[in-house]
Amino acid sequence: MTESPSIENSTKDIARQLRMQSQGAMSLNVAFIGIVSNLFEALHLLAEGTVEALSSESGMDSLYVRRWAEAAFAFGYLDITDNRFKLTLLGDLMRPTHPETQFNIPIGSFLSTHMADRAAELMLTGERPGEKVLAERKNILPWFGAMLEASFSGIFEKEICPAINIFSEVDRRGGTVVDLGCGNGWYLRSLARRCQKIQGIGWDGFDENVRRAKNLAQKEGLTNRLSFQVGDIKSFSHAGPADIIAMNRALHHVWDEKEVVFNILKNHLKPNGAVVIWEPAWPKSIQELREVRRRPLAVQNLGEHVQGNHLLRPEEIADAFHAVGMASEVHLFGEGAEAVVVGTFP
Ligand SMILES: C[S@@+](CC[C@H](N)C(=O)[O-])C[C@H]1O[C@@H](n2cnc3c(N)ncnc32)[C@H](O)[C@@H]1O
Repeated sequence: MTESPSIENSTKDIARQLRMQSQGAMSLNVAFIGIVSNLFEALHLLAEGTVEALSSESGMDSLYVRRWAEAAFAFGYLDITDNRFKLTLLGDLMRPTHPETQFNIPIGSFLSTHMADRAAELMLTGERPGEKVLAERKNILPWFGAMLEASFSGIFEKEICPAINIFSEVDRRGGTVVDLGCGNGWYLRSLARRCQKIQGIGWDGFDENVRRAKNLAQKEGLTNRLSFQVGDIKSFSHAGPADIIAMNRALHHVWDEKEVVFNILKNHLKPNGAVVIWEPAWPKSIQELREVRRRPLAVQNLGEHVQGNHLLRPEEIADAFHAVGMASEVHLFGEGAEAVVVGTFP
């Protein structure tokens, strides 16, 4: 029996669409290899070069480099003239040091593939191994902080900072900003560049992050104003109260002890200060997850489940402020996918 033409057509359309999506995944995999093996940066330094020259500049095996260069050419990252490769604009944007770099996209895509594989393995038993899954692949953790920086520093500087009053107030009066779960410290570096009078204290449970945050602050000449320490958010303590206590994509990691955390936030804040919590905004209804900007949240939440966490609705964060006697305001950015919840004393 033959299918009706409309079903046949729509099946063909779906098959075509799936093939294109598969090519999208392949293209990101090719970029991922070029990023973590330093091939895009090496070719930028050469301006153009043969496989042998690229192999020598990057320190990578020439036979692998040849196969990679063919794939990178196929997907438009490289052009070729007389056996000499050079970067296209797309390839150039894969360089982590490009001012408008997009390298975070292939890295995020690879992270999502790793989490998908782990979720598929664990689905039967329900086991949730925790945050150590990030360290299971040698090419994720070293890129994680820079990936978050490239993904979120732009929206922070262009949209969030100008929209949230406490940042301009603290810029005028100076003061102390604490960043709990600071990762590579990009948020404090960004604020310190913008607000010349502030002092920043970054706190993270993972010593490799703190080491990286210190190095990056040093490279930017900010160590006289920024300091970073290893420590658990759930036992944070500091002698003087802060003007801003920020937590970016860190609250959902410690949500199981939210009462402890919100008391710490309240007890370390100046009377005219603000706690500024930035989290991916889990929507109220499943229908909203179909929106293009929110689809990635659903996949992230599957990965968070593997790590023992879950994403939060902004209202849950607001309720946690109210539970410790603080007022709160919810601000949404990124077409509703990013929530900044500001807590103050009433
Ligand atoms: C998703 S990352 C966000 C990093 C950074 N805030 C940013 O926006 O790039 C979460 C961070 O929280 C840190 N973290 C998670 N649980 C923590 C805890 N209990 N104490 C201290 N840091 C913690 C992790 O090491 C990681 O750097």
